[in-house]
Amino acid sequence: MKDFAGKIAVITGGGTGMGRELARQLVAEGCNVAMCDVSAEAMAETKRLCEVEKLPQGLRITTHVADVSIEDHFKRFRDELIEQQHTDKIHLLFNNAGIGGGGSLFTNTREQWERTFNICWGGVYLGVRTFLPLLVKADEAHIVNTSSVNGFWASVGMGVSHTAYSAAKFAVKGFTEALINDLRLNAPHVKCSVVMPGHIGTSIVSNSRKVRLGTESDRLTADEFVQARQRLQGQGVDVAAMSDEDIQQAALDRARIFHDEAPTTASAAAKIILDGVKAGRWRILVGDDAHRLDERVRKTPEQAYTVEFYQSIVAETGWRIG
Ligand SMILES: NC(=O)c1ccc[n+]([C@@H]2O[C@H](COP(=O)([O-])OP(=O)(O)OC[C@H]3O[C@@H](n4cnc5c(N)ncnc54)[C@H](O)[C@@H]3O)[C@@H](O)[C@H]2O)c1
Repeated sequence: MKDFAGKIAVITGGGTGMGRELARQLVAEGCNVAMCDVSAEAMAETKRLCEVEKLPQGLRITTHVADVSIEDHFKRFRDELIEQQHTDKIHLLFNNAGIGGGGSLFTNTREQWERTFNICWGGVYLGVRTFLPLLVKADEAHIVNTSSVNGFWASVGMGVSHTAYSAAKFAVKGFTEALINDLRLNAPHVKCSVVMPGHIGTSIVSNSRKVRLGTESDRLTADEFVQARQRLQGQGVDVAAMSDEDIQQAALDRARIFHDEAPTTASAAAKIILDGVKAGRWRILVGDDAHRLDERVRKTPEQAYTVEFYQSIVAETGWRIG
């Protein structure tokens, strides 16, 4: 697909981060956008930002509150889209919504683990299931599923358990790669891509806990204090000497550093994703860090989960995450 003007795009998780920037750039190219998110306020802000520039006559931006892990929400989103966008077909589907967390089988609850998995994997699967008939009706269409570097490397560093997110992102990558042939055989006018971002400057750290806990507060809960201490301890920090206020501050700093000190902005990431779709690429790595990690994991897979590997990746990329 070389041109997005006049097309209709669905974006999940359009409220902030890469979803918001995808919406802005698609609208700027004259593409109609229907987005969903759990946060109506965040989507209202995305819509406002999209409308800052003068829009082409008749272009539609619609917002739909939906949790991507719940199939009935997706069906309601689809029905609202058909009514409000006046169409029974879509051209682009960005399965972008995601959260982190719930990484340990030991220190997280099963509920926390499954919340992350059901959003990051279930949201992509249900998105494709729900919107496939509308994609097939278009003359040409493209599915863009967001995985991560954690779709080929199941770690965010030593001392951090990361099982739910990694399992989900590997699933997204495997599903999308297998979908290439399923589409080729059954709906050759529909293409798909898997997106694997490195570290992108978004608020995913703070948003994830808000989605998980259903709160707007930044104050850690009693459970989170315990988990934050475990995480810092795993990274070699002397937590015994830290008060709860120190732990709270460390959590806020982690979210701020993740957003402010990333090598790639959300806006630059969205451009790379849209350029990748236009170029017809099925695998879209986002950021130099993602390219480096991809090369390194392929070159020395047996080393991928060693301390030396992690330290050399941090040295190469300048990452301050984990
Ligand atoms: N930021 C990174 O470094 C990075 C790296 C690799 C992959 N990713 C992936 O990129 C995607 C976008 O993340 P981002 O960094 O822009 O984060 P973000 O938190 O800024 O945006 C994610 C959006 O999804 C929404 N969301 C969360 N759970 C939802 C649910 N159940 N239903 C509907 N909406 C929901 C959030 O409210 C938020 O608006 C995610 O899939 C994430 O896993 C991010």
